[in-house]
Amino acid sequence: MRRKMAAGNWKMNGSSAALSVISDLAAAHADNTDTDIVICPPAPLLFRASEIARSSAVTIGAQDCHSETAGAFTGDIAAPMIADAGATHVIVGHSERRDAYRESNSDVRAKAKAAWEAGLVAILCIGESAEDREADNTLDIIAGQLSGSVPNGSTGDNLVVAYEPVWAIGTGAVATTAQIDEVHDFIRARLVQRFGEEVGNAIRLLYGGSVKPGNAAEIFQCDNVDGALVGGASLKAQDFTPIIKALIAS
Ligand code: PGA
Repeated sequence: MRRKMAAGNWKMNGSSAALSVISDLAAAHADNTDTDIVICPPAPLLFRASEIARSSAVTIGAQDCHSETAGAFTGDIAAPMIADAGATHVIVGHSERRDAYRESNSDVRAKAKAAWEAGLVAILCIGESAEDREADNTLDIIAGQLSGSVPNGSTGDNLVVAYEPVWAIGTGAVATTAQIDEVHDFIRARLVQRFGEEVGNAIRLLYGGSVKPGNAAEIFQCDNVDGALVGGASLKAQDFTPIIKALIAS
């Protein structure tokens, strides 16, 4: 039985005023024990967010890390710094970074390994563009991203894979449950093929892309969906809470 996960990616949104979302979520889900709730705020908020979330049902993650542990990389954040700030997770390979910063599969793989070395769980994102899907290349793209960016040594404890079709991110266009099933079943089969039954079945798979209170329950019915990576709807506790409740109830 895989533990469920609801992860919120705030992207470059939120100030110290937004930290109340974390205490609100912690209060709303105080008796939750079987679902991981992870909030990934911008880096300047990591330390305070971790303090607020301490001993609650909410844990904190970063949105990216560098593959090196230290050095002359102006503006970047190393995985040990994220752990030092009290966070436990880090998103790697988000499509916005693959696109805007030209991160390759091997860059993402190196970041995931750096995350592990710092004791963090990597939430590794993959997903096809609209052009890939129109050209019927979705599963080839997913296969390439999985083999290129998921490191050897992955386990159910150190890796979570988030399938986020690029065309569904921030657009309001959600993949259909048939599309989600097809890709998630494919990812599961590939992970089992590569890592064996036990590990391949232990790695959690999140869906991301315009998950909202109104569509979450349907998405969570998909067999190989273990939770969601949520952008816009994670910025307010009143939007994220019904999504988390739908996940717990699924
Ligand atoms: P969205 O973003 O929920 O706003 O579509 C998801 C993501 O980018 O992780």
